[in-house]
Amino acid sequence: MKLILGVAGGIAAYKAAELARLLMQEGHEVQVVMTPAAEEFVRPLTFAALTGRKVLTNLFAIESAIEHISVAQEHELLVIAPATADLIARMAHGLADDFLTTLYLAFTGPVVLAPAMNVNMWQHPATRANLDTLRGRGHRIVEPDSGYLACGMTGPGRLADPEIIAEAIAREVHQRRDLEGETLLITAGPTQEPLDPVRYISNRSSGKMGYALAEAAVARGARVILISGPVHLPPPPGVEIINVRTAIEMREQVFAHLGPADIVIKAAAVADFHLSKVPDQKVKKTAARISMELDPTPDILAELGRKKGDRLLIGFAAETQNLQQEARRKLESKNCDMVVGNLVGVSDSGFESDQNEVILVLRTGESIPLPRAPKREIADHIFDHVLKLRLALHAANGH
Ligand code: CTP
Repeated sequence: MKLILGVAGGIAAYKAAELARLLMQEGHEVQVVMTPAAEEFVRPLTFAALTGRKVLTNLFAIESAIEHISVAQEHELLVIAPATADLIARMAHGLADDFLTTLYLAFTGPVVLAPAMNVNMWQHPATRANLDTLRGRGHRIVEPDSGYLACGMTGPGRLADPEIIAEAIAREVHQRRDLEGETLLITAGPTQEPLDPVRYISNRSSGKMGYALAEAAVARGARVILISGPVHLPPPPGVEIINVRTAIEMREQVFAHLGPADIVIKAAAVADFHLSKVPDQKVKKTAARISMELDPTPDILAELGRKKGDRLLIGFAAETQNLQQEARRKLESKNCDMVVGNLVGVSDSGFESDQNEVILVLRTGESIPLPRAPKREIADHIFDHVLKLRLALHAANGH
């Protein structure tokens, strides 16, 4: 494979030479790009000797104004090691002030970053936020090691071993387009159930998990129909988005688009109750107390469970307690193949967070906890298990 190895200016830059050697050994073609700061730590000649190729630096950019575009197009994967706090910030914000960051903006393939920096810089909220942005774009972050740092401090920040970085690259390289040819129907976000023309009942779902699933599925080659309740998120590029407001509208759209779907994922937090007859006019504050009779909304997932045919059906269970038991109960009562259980109402996980910690409850009887991770990563793990589950179910049915 044709790889670009971006080297930023940190004390760990010398370890990138070992990584370049490993990648060459594995049979890749490696094109090294160095930032001006990196050249202060290691001479380009070191990399040129290891890779047999001229190293691209800022000087090169001055000589050839459009070279970053062709270099970006000719290569299949971009790995950056070490990725400094400064480079991570520039990438997160789309700055293009040297050859490497300009190339990054022109590059459309997978990106792997191996950060290395002082422990306080690593833990700084600015760096955390920038890394979340990059993770949100689907970039793979190879976490730094903990240990003695060049600055004399101890803690996380040391560049991961070149072997570990090479393994992460191998995983990206082998990321198959394993959902190619599949159509996924995904619902996301809350629903809003009107009480009068200006008021509604809803819940705290942000839609982030459903949107992360849609984004991951597109990256893996699927056609994705995303039926979304009201959220503040841009639709991921490449999905067919259908916006709805109420549970009734969501049900209507789900069944209108069920036909071509091979896999249905109900990540939406559908309101359980609504007012069946919504008043035409705003309710006035005339009485001291007011009561309303709410009726249940249609349970879309349960109806899908009855009509799913050969499709794989994945539900969600948002719980504040007894997560695993409740997830299994919903799996059985709604005839799902998998239920993704997540605890809501706990800090920094669940509804509004960018992170999630879930348990996958499968029809085969297995329960698989997934440790806390960004929702985009959780989404990929969910798909790994969905595909495995389908194989297991096919094998069990003698297909
Ligand atoms: N769901 C649905 N239609 C509804 C309610 C829920 O399709 N009217 C789906 C959700 O999209 C989710 C799953 O059912 O995939 C579980 O939703 P949840 O609110 O956790 O469960 P409920 O069945 O509503 O049970 P309870 O509120 O008692 O926990």
